[in-house]
Amino acid sequence: MELIKWSDNHMPRSDDRWLNVMSKENVEAASDFHKCFPQYSVTPLANLKELADEIGIGGLYVKDESYRFGLNAFKVLGGSFAMAKYIAGEMKRDVSEMTYEYLTSLEFEKDFGYATFFTATDGNHGRGVAWAANKLHQKAVVHMPKGSTKTRFDNIAKENAKVTIEELNYDDCVRLAASEARETEHGVIIQDTAWEGYEEIPSWIMQGYGTMSREASEQLKENGVDRPTHIFVQAGVGSLAASVVGYFSNLYPDDPPKFIICEADAAACLYKGAVLGTGEEQIVTGDLQTIMAGLACGEPNTIGWDILRNHADCFLSCPDWVSARGMRILSSPVKGDPRVISGESGAVDTGAVYTIMTDENYKELREKLGLNADSRVLCFSTEGDTDPERYREIVWDGAWAR
Ligand SMILES: Cc1ncc(COP(=O)(O)O)c(C=O)c1O
Repeated sequence: MELIKWSDNHMPRSDDRWLNVMSKENVEAASDFHKCFPQYSVTPLANLKELADEIGIGGLYVKDESYRFGLNAFKVLGGSFAMAKYIAGEMKRDVSEMTYEYLTSLEFEKDFGYATFFTATDGNHGRGVAWAANKLHQKAVVHMPKGSTKTRFDNIAKENAKVTIEELNYDDCVRLAASEARETEHGVIIQDTAWEGYEEIPSWIMQGYGTMSREASEQLKENGVDRPTHIFVQAGVGSLAASVVGYFSNLYPDDPPKFIICEADAAACLYKGAVLGTGEEQIVTGDLQTIMAGLACGEPNTIGWDILRNHADCFLSCPDWVSARGMRILSSPVKGDPRVISGESGAVDTGAVYTIMTDENYKELREKLGLNADSRVLCFSTEGDTDPERYREIVWDGAWAR
């Protein structure tokens, strides 16, 4: 059995110029935008009290994004807000004026018309972009990497987007979408990762994800937790992780929680950077085969990496069984705890927390992280059963057991 590998953060700090992307004000603007959608509701924060007791921590809270806008994943928060910011910029207006009501009005159609939003996706991000474009009467073109499943393809196609599965990996699909957007009139790429020179839109996407962290911090307070002591968050390119880490670092500047970043071992580019320890980004290439489709990204978001190298505490490289185990634990909770339907990219945090607390291989890690009866741990289940067949294979039939 492959073990979880880990590296603490001993990288030199940068000037931290991207942290402000995740300021409270910026996240509030995103949150206000999302609240005006008729489909908006706060997603549940599952309080796994009995499980926390059993594994020896003071609290375990899992934000359940399977309820987000009926889309089974958090991703739509980013794409939709970036679209609103882009349209606001084109119209030279403030994003606060881009309400759902205005964006779906005849007046808006006259004032703006439409743009074509291009993107590359493993599934969830593209579905979010396609959904938001459809709702806001815009156009979407979505490219998926080889190996993408039919369910994920169909979910995007039914939002009236033009969607293809390419013979390319994720990172090459991003390059394809970018070049097509450049060649299209009113074409723009809404990509959930940043690179040198492409930073504005991804920073809006990260702010959009902030709605989830903002809700979670309020829900923790309602549960009597003033501040989580530890936050486990998963990473593909690291936009989500940096969004979470950035938001909570700004919220608790003097006393931030410990941040633990969980990656799929087949695509652990951030972990690789932490092991190297110089602060330089590292890339993982190849097919990136993992059940955690949303985490199968080998090239870090440049802004995200900068936030993480300054503020993350520990990087984990997780074999597939960690996430499969997390899925089963969340699906089959300890008596008294609520059930969470969590997919392959959603459950790795919980699988990691459980494993670190119960397996003697990780004694040193749990002591180093200070995980004990005083800990209040927050995890993000970022998707539900977005691939229902695979979900049952794992949860019902026990595939990817340890
Ligand atoms: C369900 C899910 N969780 C987590 C992630 C990781 O987000 P990021 O690529 O920003 O690190 C993704 C990305 O697609 C995802 O779909």
